[in-house]
Amino acid sequence: MTSALMLELRDLSKSFQLHHQHGARLNVLRGLDLRLHAGECVVLSGPSGAGKSTLLRVIYANYRPTFGAVHVRHDDRWLDLAKATSHEVLDVRRRTLGYVSQFLRVIPRVPTLDIVAEPAVQMGASTENARQRASDLLHRLNVPERLWQLPPGTFSGGEQQRVNIARGLIVPRPVLLLDEPTASLDADNRAVVAELLAEARAAGSAVLGIFHDEDMRDRVATRLFPMQALEAA
Ligand SMILES: Nc1ncnc2c1ncn2[C@@H]1O[C@H](COP(=O)(O)OP(=O)(O)OP(=O)(O)O)[C@@H](O)[C@H]1O
Ligand SMILES: [Mg+2]
Repeated sequence: MTSALMLELRDLSKSFQLHHQHGARLNVLRGLDLRLHAGECVVLSGPSGAGKSTLLRVIYANYRPTFGAVHVRHDDRWLDLAKATSHEVLDVRRRTLGYVSQFLRVIPRVPTLDIVAEPAVQMGASTENARQRASDLLHRLNVPERLWQLPPGTFSGGEQQRVNIARGLIVPRPVLLLDEPTASLDADNRAVVAELLAEARAAGSAVLGIFHDEDMRDRVATRLFPMQALEAA
């Protein structure tokens, strides 16, 4: 059985206009095609500056591509995020497309437990149920219980990263984008994240990620997608 196609990039290009260099253009992605299916974990590989993070940001619609299409399966219909309205983008992000970056963007004064629970509440879970799921995830990620009622602003890098992962995984989303979510984690916690990702894939999520750590890459990737830096035009 072939798994459902969830995301399809077609002839995708992205260049940046460099306003401090007399408007010169920097080509970062050119003519890129990629298909991502339910249950797979494709890992973007390639040197620093190859455009890996840019690609995830284009898919998450933080950046509009210069050319090409970002087709995502949303409620069993296809939507091109390159052309979607901001309302559609927000709906896709809420229900279909998850994104976990290396850094937690903290919401001031909100306790950790509620930061993690929030996406589940937004999807209609009761506060009680969402907090239960949040505590299960925080437990598994070894975030000490004494921290749960504190805002994570002063947490260590690795603690913040685990809060971020818990928040990104609490709602099972069909497509997950991960930009080095384990960069500050020790081996034990990386193993927990690998386990959580395997569970997400088994539940049908399609994962597209960046993992610099080779051990992590070998553990989670079902396929590598190599990328190269392009020259500035
Ligand atoms: N908003 C932007 N404006 C101008 N240039 C940008 C912008 N975002 C990224 N770039 C440039 O695009 C290129 C690719 O950056 P990107 O962050 O995608 O690389 P990467 O493959 O994720 O690298 P790393 O492994 O170091 O994280 C870099 O040369 C970067 O300077
Ligand atoms: Mg990057």
